[in-house]
Amino acid sequence: TQNIYILGIESSCDDTAAAVLHNGKILSNIVATQEVHKQYGGVVPELASRAHQQNIVPVIHQAIAKANIVKKDISAIAFTRGPGLMGSLLVGTSFAKSLAMGLDIPLIEVNHMQAHILAHFIKEDGFDQPEFPFIGLTISGGHTQIVKVSDYFAMEVIGETIDDAVGEAFDKSAKILGLPYPGGPLIDKYAQKGNPKAFKFPKPKVEGLNFSFSGFKTAVLYFIQRETRNNPDFIKENLEDICASIQYTIIGILTDKLKKAVKETGIKQIAIGGGVSANSGIRNALKEAEKKHGWKCFIPKFEYTTDNAAMIAIVGHYKFLKGEFSDFSTTAKARYKI
Ligand code: KG4
Ligand code: ZN
Repeated sequence: TQNIYILGIESSCDDTAAAVLHNGKILSNIVATQEVHKQYGGVVPELASRAHQQNIVPVIHQAIAKANIVKKDISAIAFTRGPGLMGSLLVGTSFAKSLAMGLDIPLIEVNHMQAHILAHFIKEDGFDQPEFPFIGLTISGGHTQIVKVSDYFAMEVIGETIDDAVGEAFDKSAKILGLPYPGGPLIDKYAQKGNPKAFKFPKPKVEGLNFSFSGFKTAVLYFIQRETRNNPDFIKENLEDICASIQYTIIGILTDKLKKAVKETGIKQIAIGGGVSANSGIRNALKEAEKKHGWKCFIPKFEYTTDNAAMIAIVGHYKFLKGEFSDFSTTAKARYKI
């Protein structure tokens, strides 16, 4: 049997990551999360590029050391070509090219959004892998997509946000409530003790399977402004109920569209990915849908749902098997369709 070792490199946003897979199994998965953005309440692209430049070599060294291999064992290098922040992508792309050239091994470009979906195929004990066809729902601070997945590389985006990503809806709502960035996990935490029906927020009307979250954030802002005018302590006194109501509405928006996607495609297997899939409310809603509608839902291990390089490496693994290698003249691509 063949020994395939893929080094994956991810640098599309604010996480510098490297991972090594052996025949599709994880040997190492290292992520350096950039703390510098916290104080600005969001990712600052210029600072992200610099931090990638600083972190990329130590992160790759760590991934190789933890995998207990040497550089010459590596069969190919897979890197995120896009989509993402241009400056961030350039760091990973240039580095991947140089390393592949130095080691004289193939270079494999990876679409970050495909990787979020194919992360479900990382071989992991105790985790089932979806069967084709299935519906992928990618939800994070940067993405909100519904994808029809017919095969590893036969994917079609059938719905996506026309403005903000769902993670932004969480984070911006949290910011309005005075919570630190990123506020998504905090909304989740407070929501667990609150009444989801205490306050009502409007759901946007968007065509087909698309999403819109910019109006939602504005609705939260107006609601808080109105209530705090009457009672300056409104947030403090109702934080749990407010968070629960916000989360309930956002999850309702997501599950409404998922139901529609299931109806339109006839596919009942749903595989989610992206940082927001850590949300306890969405997990519960999917479990309920399994019972109520006969869906089968797949939620990968947490470290494979947020931005990571293991998902880049698994795409690299499947492309390696097909012999699909990149030309060394390939360039980073900020906007890159699945
Ligand atoms: O995938 P990710 O780490 O990075 C990208 O945005 O690509 O996702 C981060 C997003 C943030 O918006 C964060 O607030 C959100 O995922 N998030 C959550 C939860 N954990 C992370 N949102 C709601 N509930 C959570 N438990
Ligand atoms: Zn991502």
